[in-house]
Amino acid sequence: MSLNLQETITQPDLEKIRADFPILSRKVHNRPLVYFDNAATTQKPQVVIDALVNYYTSLNSNVHRGVHYLSQQATIAFEEVRKKLQQFVNARFSHEIVYTRGCTEAINLVASSWGRANISAGDEILISTLEHHSNIVPWQMLCEEKGAVLRVCPLLSDGSLDMEAFAGLLGPKTKLVSIAHISNTLGTINPVKEITRMAHEKGATVLIDGAQALSHMKVDVQDIGCDFYTFSAHKVYGPMGIGGLYGREEVLDAMPPYQGGGEMIKNVTFGKTTYNDLPFKFEAGTPNVGDVIGFGAALDYINGIGIERIAAWEHELLAYATEKLSADPMVRIIGTAPQKASLISFLIGDIHPFDAGTIIDHMGIAVRTGTHCTQPLLDSLGISGTIRASFAFYNTKEEIDKLAEAINKVKEFFL
Ligand code: ALA
Repeated sequence: MSLNLQETITQPDLEKIRADFPILSRKVHNRPLVYFDNAATTQKPQVVIDALVNYYTSLNSNVHRGVHYLSQQATIAFEEVRKKLQQFVNARFSHEIVYTRGCTEAINLVASSWGRANISAGDEILISTLEHHSNIVPWQMLCEEKGAVLRVCPLLSDGSLDMEAFAGLLGPKTKLVSIAHISNTLGTINPVKEITRMAHEKGATVLIDGAQALSHMKVDVQDIGCDFYTFSAHKVYGPMGIGGLYGREEVLDAMPPYQGGGEMIKNVTFGKTTYNDLPFKFEAGTPNVGDVIGFGAALDYINGIGIERIAAWEHELLAYATEKLSADPMVRIIGTAPQKASLISFLIGDIHPFDAGTIIDHMGIAVRTGTHCTQPLLDSLGISGTIRASFAFYNTKEEIDKLAEAINKVKEFFL
C-alpha cells in the first residue's frame, strides 16, 4: 500500500486501507458490514493475518530456550517486537516492556506484584468513576486483602474528570493513582500528564490504563511521566490474547515476580531460586510468540500510515458523527468532554439500548450495547446502558450516514 503523505487520510487512501482489511468486505444480514465496535476490538489487516500464518508455517519454535535455528530465529523476531513497542510508546529501554495477555493481565500484574509489596492497611488507591471494571476490581481485591481504601474521583457533567476533586482526593495516604487514558464508554481523553505530575508531587505511583489510547493517538510514556502504562494488541489491529505492561525500570526492578515458572528464573535449587533480569522476571512460562509477532505486524502497519494521520481522520469522523447525531432531537449523547476520542455513546429517547442495537445490527451495523464493563459509571449517570459507536481509521462518513438511517428505523419501529 503506498499512500500520499497528507495530514489526514484521503478518499483514495481510505479505499486502499479498507482493501487491507478482508473482513470489511463481508456482508452481515445481507448488507455490507459497517463495523463500529472498534473499542471492543479492532479488525485485523491482511499483514497481521499473514504474519500469524507465516509464523506457524515456517518459524514456530519456543523462544530463549534453544540453540537450534528455529528457536534462534523465533527469539529474534519475538525480541524485535519488544523494541518496536519500546519505540511505539517511547520507553527508555526495551526491557521496560513486559508481554502480558493484555491490559487486564497487565493491571493484575501490577496489583499483585507491586501492590503486595507496597500497599499496607490504611493506604489509599485513587481511581475515577469512568474506569473499566479491569481498572476497578484488581484494586478492590488488593484493598480487601490489605485493608487499604479505594477512593474514586468523580466526573463533571460532560464526562471530564473533576480535577479539583482529584486534587482534593490526593493526599499523603495516596500510594497509587490508576486512571484510564481514554474512557471506553464516554470517549473522554484524560489529562494523564497533569494527573501524573500531581500524583508524583504527593509521592504516589501512577498507572495509566492505555487500552483505548494506543490506536488513536501518539502515546509517549516518558512525556506522560507515568510509572506504568498498559495496553492490548487486539485494540490496536493486532491479535487477541497479547498485550503488555510498560514499567519504569527502577519501579519494575524493585518489584517481586508475578508468577513463578520457567523463564523468570536465573537459578533454581530446592533451597532457593534467584530471579531473572527484566523483563523476563515477569514472563513466566512459554509466551504467546505467534501473537507477539502478529502484534509487531500491526505496529508496522500503523507506522506505515502514521498515527497522527489516523488521529486526524478519526477526529473528522467524530466531528461528523457528533453533528449528525446531535441534529436528531431524540438522540442523547452520553459524554461530551472537550477532549474526546472517536467514539459516541448515545440513547434514542427511552428505547432500551439492546432493542435499538438489535435493529441497528439488522441493518448490518455492529455497535456495542450495554454497560461496556463500566457499571459504576453508568450507575453514577443513572442509566442502565448505552448504544456505543466506536470508529477506527478505516471507517467512512458514508457509514456514519447509514448509522443515522438505522437510528431512524429504530424510531419508526419503537415510537
Ligand atoms: N473493554 C472493551 C469495550 O469497551 C471490551 O468494549
